[in-house]
This record gives sequence, structure tokens and C-alpha cells, in this order.
Amino acid sequence: MSEPIKALALIGMMGSGKSTLAREIGSATGWPWLDLDREVERRAGRSIEEIFRMEDEVGFRRWEHETLEWVVAHVAGPYVLATGGGTPAGPGNRSVLRSHFRVAWVDASCETLYHRALGPDRPLLQKGPEFFDRLCAERRSVYADLAELRVDVETASPADVAQNIVAWWKGL
Ligand code: S3P
Repeated sequence: MSEPIKALALIGMMGSGKSTLAREIGSATGWPWLDLDREVERRAGRSIEEIFRMEDEVGFRRWEHETLEWVVAHVAGPYVLATGGGTPAGPGNRSVLRSHFRVAWVDASCETLYHRALGPDRPLLQKGPEFFDRLCAERRSVYADLAELRVDVETASPADVAQNIVAWWKGL
């Protein structure tokens, strides 16, 4: 008998389009999808921006870790989870991701990711392009270490990328 299908986690920098892909994959498979940042906001009763402002990044990372633990304990069956860009680097998260999920890394060049991520809602982006580039370079090794699949979204459409991920996830 084949193994039951594990949940799928999408990892990658801000601006990679993890949430859009999670939604695409959800509608292609009929399986539910969740966005970890939205779950953090729901549980905290505050926006990500407010959490950073009131509790700093350390407080946000605590919420992020607790919420990841909550998701794996409460959501059953195959589902898709769009993580936050820093989730794989957060304390304790790597082992949770490794043991509960198949992990796909959504990637593009740091320059493209920066431009796609721009906007007022992401606190770490407000630290400027040099900070983003450094973070993007540092996290590459964390993502590469964790991911079983890397998909390039530099030019491919979300629908095509979603199809590739689904095929891989289902072992087609
Ligand atoms: C973060 C990415 C954000 C959000 C928070 C911190 C990061 O998620 O979790 O602002 O450390 O890269 P997205 O990757 O969904 O933007």
C-alpha cells in the first residue's frame, strides 16, 4: 500500500508568490490551503505589522513558531501551507517542516523578489534593498537544505508552476 499523502509546505522569500501558488494548488487539487501569516494574525488578533511594532521580530517569531505547531496539531489530511519567508530560519521550525511536510522552495532572483515584494505591509522590507539582498542570500542555504523541490518563478506563470508542484507532490 502506498504512503498517505503528506501536507505540502511552500517556502521561499517574500515576493515569491507562495500564497498565490498555495491557492492555485488548492483549487487544482480540491485540498485546503492555509497561509501561515494569516493564521498568525488570526490567532494574535493583530496584523503582522502590529506584531512587529509591538513585540519586535522576536515576538513575531514566537507567534510564527507556535502557529506552525498549532497548524500541524489541528489541520488533518493533505493540505497546502504557504509559510512566511523567514519560517524555515525560525527557531525550531525546520524540524517541524521536515517531519510533517513535503517541502517545495519557490525561487527567483533576489532582485526580482525584492521588486515583487515591495509595499508597506512587510516590516522587514522597510529596512531597504541592501538588507533584503543580504537576507535573500543568507536564506538560500536554509531553503536549499530543507527543500525537496525547487521551482523557479522568474518567468513561469503561477498556473504552470502550480501544475509542476502538484505532479511532484502526488508523485505523478
Ligand atoms: C517575513 C516574511 C513575511 C512575514 C513577515 C516576515 C520574513 O511573509 O512572515 O513579514 O522574515 O521574510 P511573506 O514571505 O509571506 O511575505
